[in-house]
Amino acid sequence: MKPFGGFSRDTIDDVLVNPQATADGSVHDAYRTLRADDPVHWCTPAGFRPFWAITRHADIHAVSKANDRFVNRHRTYLAPIEAEKWTLATVGDTHLFRTLVDLDDPEHMKLRKLTNSWFLPPNLKRLEGEIASLAKAAVDGMAGRDRCDFVEDVALLYPLRVIMRVLGLPPEDEPRMLKMTQEMFGPQDPDVVARSARITAGAGAVAGSGDPQVDLFALAQEYFGYFGAVTAARRANPQDDVSTVIANGMIDGAPIGEREAMSYYVIVATAGHDTTSSTAAAGMLELIRAPAELAKLRADPGLLPGAVEEMIRWATPVKHFMRTATVDTEIGGKTIRAGDALCLFYASGNRDERVFDDPDSFRVDRTPNPQIAFGHGVHQCLGLHLARLEIRALFAELLPRLAHVELAGEPRSTIANFVSGLKTLPIRYRLD
Ligand code: HEM
Repeated sequence: MKPFGGFSRDTIDDVLVNPQATADGSVHDAYRTLRADDPVHWCTPAGFRPFWAITRHADIHAVSKANDRFVNRHRTYLAPIEAEKWTLATVGDTHLFRTLVDLDDPEHMKLRKLTNSWFLPPNLKRLEGEIASLAKAAVDGMAGRDRCDFVEDVALLYPLRVIMRVLGLPPEDEPRMLKMTQEMFGPQDPDVVARSARITAGAGAVAGSGDPQVDLFALAQEYFGYFGAVTAARRANPQDDVSTVIANGMIDGAPIGEREAMSYYVIVATAGHDTTSSTAAAGMLELIRAPAELAKLRADPGLLPGAVEEMIRWATPVKHFMRTATVDTEIGGKTIRAGDALCLFYASGNRDERVFDDPDSFRVDRTPNPQIAFGHGVHQCLGLHLARLEIRALFAELLPRLAHVELAGEPRSTIANFVSGLKTLPIRYRLD
């Protein structure tokens, strides 16, 4: 095996799990090195159980597709050993929730089928007008001033409002939902916790014990309390929303379990919020950094769907998910033993030079663009059509009105290694 670029074996392993390296982008140097030198790499970072790091697009695709040999239930994302131990001792399971991504077929497919058609384009078409109105309101909120924090003022709230519509939750619960979704993925970053406390003052703080595990558990309990009430309300009075589908869901003739129902709300609320926010903010930043791309897109709105795909590739807000091998098998020429964990680094696959021409440049007209940010196979993102629709609606509203835009401060990213993106994007602009 060739040496690991400028990294030693130990440092490259630690970089892969380091939230700071994800935030400052230096993790991409590690990904690039591994894609070239050791694309299926046995990784033993300090404080984490070992795993295979899968960094090439083709291998991520192959593992995701083979859900008979690579399962989800044992280990879903990179958590430190101490956090895993705490969860096991506190909830008697290595998973705090039992969401779709923690389950395998047949149980996973039965649960997924409950809401699948809700998230497909024919049904979403009904929401297009409402989503366009929410996008217009978000951009109207930028009018009458010449600067804002695009994350806090636009990208954070607009997707939250869309997902609250999807779940049928009332606008007055917005601060509470914002706090709950933000603290789910951002507890490694004190800025995110502080921001959520500031924006949502009065929403009833749960975070702040100083111990991320204790805070996460308190958050889970808050979720359970909130959505328990939603379930009761939707059973008594069904509405046209996903909460009604979950609350009244039946599997094999019986109502779905309490923990499964709660976990379902949680994954829709959290997966549907931060990911789309991060992509919209990353897209805005790249359009500022590449004025020629912005000009191209403004001149030809027909490029927008492709530009959205490129924003998703560029942002890759879900950095990884994990699988565990059920049998001895082989990937990329390496022998994987039954019980070994594998980490699928989507953020690396989306910069794979074997698949993407000039992968480190942002091009609104990139074709083809087989980005893998939504995963692949049976767990492929349930909300991918909604995410595309939402991001498209926002930029379709914003771009024709945006006469000028530039950075007004330093953009900074959330310090987290699982789901993350920009936490601040100060901009100066002129809206027509
Ligand atoms: C699963 C990414 C937006 C709901 C996933 C997975 C990824 C992902 C990587 C796991 C795929 C796999 O294991 O193969 C993204 C990205 C988004 C986004 C990049 C935005 C740009 C959304 C939205 C929703 C959503 C808007 C709203 C409902 C889900 C759910 C799952 C999931 C429920 C679990 C699916 C399953 O395990 O069967 N997403 N997501 N996501 N996503 Fe998304």
